[in-house]
Amino acid sequence: MLRGNIELWLAFLTCILISTGYSLVAFLTREIPAASEFFGHTLGILGFILMLMTETFYSLRKRSRSAALGRMSTWLKFHIYMGLVGPFMVLLHTSWKFNGLAGATTLLTFIIVVSGFVGRYIFTRIPRTMDGLEIEGTLSQEALKRARQMMSLWHTVHIPIGIALFFSAFVHLGGALYYATLLK
Ligand code: HEM
Ligand code: HEM
Repeated sequence: MLRGNIELWLAFLTCILISTGYSLVAFLTREIPAASEFFGHTLGILGFILMLMTETFYSLRKRSRSAALGRMSTWLKFHIYMGLVGPFMVLLHTSWKFNGLAGATTLLTFIIVVSGFVGRYIFTRIPRTMDGLEIEGTLSQEALKRARQMMSLWHTVHIPIGIALFFSAFVHLGGALYYATLLK
């Protein structure tokens, strides 16, 4: 499961496309797209929707045992793709200012992405079927046990960061919409 790294390449290409659009807007308007204006705002909203999908879709698929919904490996690839493109769009949304709670939310977003890469690395150490079930592979029992322990330790770090991130993101977007959009 999770062979190759097509999802990383696709995310990279998508980020290049988005950066091209961003550079074009910056060039035509001769300024960095502001977080509260149309382009920057759209990036924030779309990026945040992708992040919400990252947080929920894979977990829902993991808990529903229906194979008809597609392979777990595909869902994890989709999770990683959205988990990279969403934060990248949100990064461009910030207009490179990182004050207060919004800045802290950006930091949490960065941490979850870095921790995602660590998780991806440990995850690929455990031999699995395409549907995510662990199998006895070439790894020695001792190494397999260690990889499983690291994976469960990783979950206990990664999941609370995600919860803190969405909590502060909701407070930020409530505040930003109230002060920067509705009161304008
Ligand atoms: C995880 C998601 C998000 C992160 C990390 C984030 C981060 C940021 C950052 C760092 C800023 C600049 C703050 C500053 O001026 O120092 C900002 C501004 C802003 N954000 Fe977000 N944002 C996110 C999602 C959203 C969403 C979904 C919306 C709207 C629905 C939104 C609306 C705004 C607005 C309106 C501003 C401008 C505030 C102002 O000009 O005072 N953000 N955001
Ligand atoms: C917005 C960014 C992200 C969020 C909110 C997020 C959230 C989550 C959550 C909630 C889980 C737990 C799923 C479960 O067991 O129910 C998870 C698992 C995982 N995530 Fe992410 N993630 C993000 C980005 C990434 C990235 C960028 C990568 C890889 C580069 C990644 C790789 C993984 C891996 C390998 C797992 C473990 C899968 C498993 O144990 O079944 N994530 N993520």
